[in-house]
Amino acid sequence: MKDLAGKHIVLGLSGGVACYKSAELCRLFVKAGASVQVVMSAAAQQFITPVTMQALSQHTVYGSQWDARVPNNMAHIQLTRQADLCVIAPASADLIAKLAHGMADDLLSLMCLARPIDRVPLMLAPAMNKEMWQHPATQRNLKQVALDGAQVLGVGCGEQACGESGDGRMLEPAEILDEVIAMFVPKVLKGQHVLVTAGPTFEAIDPVRGITNLSSGKMGFAIARAATEAGATVTLVAGPVNLPTPRGVHRVDVKSALNMLDAVENKASVANVFIATAAVADWRPVNASDRKIKKDGSGQPPALAFVENPDILARLAQSPRGLSQELYCVGFAAESHDLLVNAQAKRLRKGVPLLIGNIGPDTFGQDDNALLLVDETGARELSRDTKLSLARKLIADIAIRISAGVQK
Ligand code: C5P
Repeated sequence: MKDLAGKHIVLGLSGGVACYKSAELCRLFVKAGASVQVVMSAAAQQFITPVTMQALSQHTVYGSQWDARVPNNMAHIQLTRQADLCVIAPASADLIAKLAHGMADDLLSLMCLARPIDRVPLMLAPAMNKEMWQHPATQRNLKQVALDGAQVLGVGCGEQACGESGDGRMLEPAEILDEVIAMFVPKVLKGQHVLVTAGPTFEAIDPVRGITNLSSGKMGFAIARAATEAGATVTLVAGPVNLPTPRGVHRVDVKSALNMLDAVENKASVANVFIATAAVADWRPVNASDRKIKKDGSGQPPALAFVENPDILARLAQSPRGLSQELYCVGFAAESHDLLVNAQAKRLRKGVPLLIGNIGPDTFGQDDNALLLVDETGARELSRDTKLSLARKLIADIAIRISAGVQK
């Protein structure tokens, strides 16, 4: 199922160079399954034509409150009545100023004012020159529109079309899409702090070599994203992986199991949920050489001695907050066979209320997976799906378990 299937989005464009990005945004909304109604201010039409937006949205584009094509001649009312969301991207300084004052002298501003405020959320993706962005008037207006219920997205920092550099770039279309998808997710983890480990660890042998594994980090990153979408504050402790940080997630990069343990213990006292998806190396070389270990010509391999790494999950699960389930600990088990039996045994060994089993060779590096949720009462299967879909189902399941625990 597509992320925005069945959603009706009104996409408003006010004037700004960033309008060129709105064409891509419209395409992404449509690709995600939404139907999109585009409304453009007169200024927006100086930057990009309604022809492009109509072709991409497959719907007539409106720009004037006097447009007689709307049967009752009230475009400003009709356009939002079936909408699930109004997104204004780009939202110019001028449009934000108008909204802050309830001004309504063109279709776009009229439509925002006339939308059913309790039923149709308004999301703004500002875009402007850095001086305009920093101006006290703009900042005042942004506060006011947020107080009036709009969700104001942040801005990017960097080179601007005017040649200056600073804050004020519109977020990238993919980032706005993620914000919109997240907006529709029920906030079942609001007020919770979720700590996630992801990826492999790297245990150095010398400055250029080490021991690691094939974990891609994708499952853990998907869980971090799903938890943020569900309204949680999320800290993601990531081993060495090359994945983008999900929006809104606080990421701490680590290398070895010992680094991961430090980072986790640092956050454990403020977290309510700990989800250990990382494939932590079981062993590390006793002493990593500080110089590259060279061949000595004898044909003998170097003598490497290993010591066991601390079990991060078991340690947190056995801590006072873990034992009382104030910190709800969830483990993962990557197995190659007998998933149920092995996952049940691992759950007891780690001392966690919930353990998620998956088949290692079927998940490492893949975009999809299948999960087996094992608790004290039995097991439930989440059948093969994308890692993000599975992560959302898992987060919804964990939210129910936590709230049941609170009610006990
Ligand atoms: O014992 P095993 O490595 O199979 O356990 C897997 C689970 O334990 C995963 O949740 C993993 O993140 C966690 N783990 C850990 N620290 C270790 C080893 C595993 O947190 N040293």
